[in-house]
Amino acid sequence: MARKEIIGKISGYDEIIRENAILEKYGFDYQAKRGEVKSIIDALHPQGLNLTVAEVAQETATAKSIKLVSADGFLPPFQAGQYINLFVETGGVRTSRPYSIASAPTQTGHYEITIRRVEDGFVSNYLLDDLKTGDKLSSTSPSGNFHYNPHFHGDKLAFIAGGSGITPFMSMIRELADKNLGRRLHLFYGCRVEDDVIYRDELDRIAAVHSNFTWDLVISEPAPSFSGIRGFISAGLIKERLEGLDWTFYVCGPEAMYDFCLPELTKLAIPARKIRVEVMGVPKNIAAQPGWPQNVKAGAVSRVAIKGKKTISAPASEPLMISLEREGVVIPALCRSGECSLCRTKLLSGSVYQPNGVKLRKSDRAFGYIHPCMAYPITDIEILL
Ligand SMILES: Cc1cc2nc3c(=O)[nH]c(=O)nc-3n(C[C@H](O)[C@H](O)[C@H](O)COP(=O)(O)OP(=O)(O)OC[C@H]3O[C@@H](n4cnc5c(N)ncnc54)[C@H](O)[C@@H]3O)c2cc1C
Ligand code: FES
Repeated sequence: MARKEIIGKISGYDEIIRENAILEKYGFDYQAKRGEVKSIIDALHPQGLNLTVAEVAQETATAKSIKLVSADGFLPPFQAGQYINLFVETGGVRTSRPYSIASAPTQTGHYEITIRRVEDGFVSNYLLDDLKTGDKLSSTSPSGNFHYNPHFHGDKLAFIAGGSGITPFMSMIRELADKNLGRRLHLFYGCRVEDDVIYRDELDRIAAVHSNFTWDLVISEPAPSFSGIRGFISAGLIKERLEGLDWTFYVCGPEAMYDFCLPELTKLAIPARKIRVEVMGVPKNIAAQPGWPQNVKAGAVSRVAIKGKKTISAPASEPLMISLEREGVVIPALCRSGECSLCRTKLLSGSVYQPNGVKLRKSDRAFGYIHPCMAYPITDIEILL
């Protein structure tokens, strides 16, 4: 059979030829549109943000909210629960710290972050004491996986927050209020003392208006006059307050809260897939973590050679990233908690300790990559940057 005859038998062939001819005459020239999609994606997910401090508000004696606007006129959208990594220069050191966005994604004009003072904290103290309206900062774009996923999380969400761990939840609760969302939210908010409670009036106001949002304040060291729930967020309290246990649990707070609350969820037989945990930085006492080599004293100091560059001293008790930054060596960072892989660095020789929770890929282990934001040098090492 001749080629023309065969083609003529293919159903739809003539229509396609006709459509092609029309497109050639009147359709888009995709060459001319080259780069358009990329420019939209770049606007939605820029590499970095230039920010201006629009407002600083005292929330509690130890926490301030900071309203950040774009110096470039546009802030990328984000999912409630995500964070930005804020770059700062203080004491001659360039470093960064992640802060969850507490404002709702519906608020497109600014991001609000709320920073709580950490005793001897290098950056939190600087931000709380020195930052003022008009100051310029830079940050990463919003990132992180601690956000609602309608395909997996269902419509009953229980939030367990401790201290400044309330911030990602505040974004989710404000989003519920702004959009009048139908999902059911219950917040358990644990603080040491009542004076530490951030956003209390706003939480009460939202709960008064939206019956699908409820919350419990739990105070561990209350004043005698406190009439609310005392102690910690326990299995008993969770069971008593939630209708059934078929909820997705989100947990965010200080290290001690995970140590207490995660076993409480296990007591209630909540499956691991229904528990989402946000990391809030590095452990306070690294030498107390499981697997820490007992022959290494936390105060030990190692030599870190950066191949082809310089050699610095680094204490075993401090994440390698901090020791590097102190010496003016800044590596890309996002979560600073071992999770995102952005700081992935090749370890050429020597050993580091990396606690549980550092999300190393199998290939990282096989080819000797480490996450310096959560890697502690326990011998002299050489790295490639
Ligand atoms: C995803 C995520 C979201 C977060 N969201 C919030 C939030 O909403 N609100 C909030 O308050 N916190 C939040 N955090 C915690 C926040 O990122 C900081 O860890 C916190 O503010 C404490 O930082 P700091 O620098 O004050 O203390 P640290 O980093 O713990 O500093 C402790 C010690 O290290 C030393 N040090 C640290 N860096 C250096 C350096 N480069 N050079 C010299 N010395 C150094 C200091 O001397 C200090 O004694 C979040 C963390 C993560 C991972
Ligand atoms: S900065 Fe995210 S893993 Fe190190």
